[in-house]
Amino acid sequence: MRSIIPGVALSVLCAAPLAGAQAATISISCGAVGLELELCQEGANAWAEQTGNQVEVISTPNSATERLALYQQILAAGSSDIDVYQIDVIWPGTLAPHFIDLGEHIDQEQIDQHFPAIVENNTVDDVLVAMPWFTDAGILYYRTDLLEKYGKEPPTTWQELTDIAKEVQEGERGEGNDRMAGFVFQAKAYEGLTCDALEWIDSFNGGTIVADDGSITINNEDAAEALDLAATWIGDIAPEGVLNYAEEEARGVFQSGNAVFMRNWPYAWALGNADDSAIKGKIGVSALPKGGEDGKHTGVLGGWQLAVSKYSENAELGADLVKYLTSFDEQKRRAIKGAYNPTIAALYEDEEVLEANPFFGDLYETFTNAVARPSKVTGAKYNQVSSEFYNAAHQVLSGKSDAASSLEALESRLDRLSRGGRW
Ligand code: GLC
Repeated sequence: MRSIIPGVALSVLCAAPLAGAQAATISISCGAVGLELELCQEGANAWAEQTGNQVEVISTPNSATERLALYQQILAAGSSDIDVYQIDVIWPGTLAPHFIDLGEHIDQEQIDQHFPAIVENNTVDDVLVAMPWFTDAGILYYRTDLLEKYGKEPPTTWQELTDIAKEVQEGERGEGNDRMAGFVFQAKAYEGLTCDALEWIDSFNGGTIVADDGSITINNEDAAEALDLAATWIGDIAPEGVLNYAEEEARGVFQSGNAVFMRNWPYAWALGNADDSAIKGKIGVSALPKGGEDGKHTGVLGGWQLAVSKYSENAELGADLVKYLTSFDEQKRRAIKGAYNPTIAALYEDEEVLEANPFFGDLYETFTNAVARPSKVTGAKYNQVSSEFYNAAHQVLSGKSDAASSLEALESRLDRLSRGGRW
């Protein structure tokens, strides 16, 4: 496995075929958040062994924002260095022109096992540009031992979370753990903040930035109320440092026992309950809180797909690797070992999967009704929309602007970007 550094050209990967055989080396880019890289390597190795080919796993930056920039650079150059790409659920519209039609390589029967909404998300102009690999939704993690100690139930509104986080944080600090934080989440200026902030806003009924019909909805009072509440957390129930946290930084604090609540994706479950975790067996999971009594429990839809590059010299084999990695058995293995949510509905009824991840059953609705970011309607412009949005949210969280002014300015920028909502 090797890692790639942005800006550095990749060396040619293809090893010489084994003498007399048609073996090839297929390179696949994988994420490295949680157990991702290990699981990707194991799955790819199993395929290689089964088919007599070789694989090279290339690790990419954890930040989705940085990873996209890197992919765009490699793909724009028409490079054949990476055959199979792990792509985010929000990227099909942006990267579609660079990928082959997997519908021509994978049986319809296998495609039909997956959640139809994700298959549809990955289909651009009738081309299946990527196969679903795992899905994600934002969820709330809490410390069962601490809530019990303070006689609290898991919060159902953000205000309740704020109050409980404060009380437990102060109580624990009073008992000597001055590192205890009430709540950790992702507030660095990157794609992860788009997810967190969209959850707060939509849970207050403030919409999803851009509506399905293309209209820009972000400048509204509910959205402003959500962001203003979140801004009060910084330096109070959340450490100042959260302004620079992505998923793994939040998990690090929570898993070492220094946070009451954490917003994260399901993968943190497997690691939090591993033998070396300080909080093994003390973790509860629920849907994220509602904006208020009239609000809703919003978890943003995330997840990753596998796509084959048009510039690959081994597209056929690349598609075969994708077929293997996205299969029922491989998704089951990844779910049990790493808490990566399958995209195959039947696996949510599998006993071994549910035993390893009881919340896959309890929160099934959260996973299947997760709220999408506006990537479909904004198409190739989604990344710009998201970066305008997370920068605006970051301004509010870091106290540089109040939510109302920040959202007003954001609305005009999005208006210009879309030429009046015509994406
Ligand atoms: C997770 C999600 C992905 C999202 C990213 C943001 O990896 O699966 O969809 O874009 O987090 O940090």
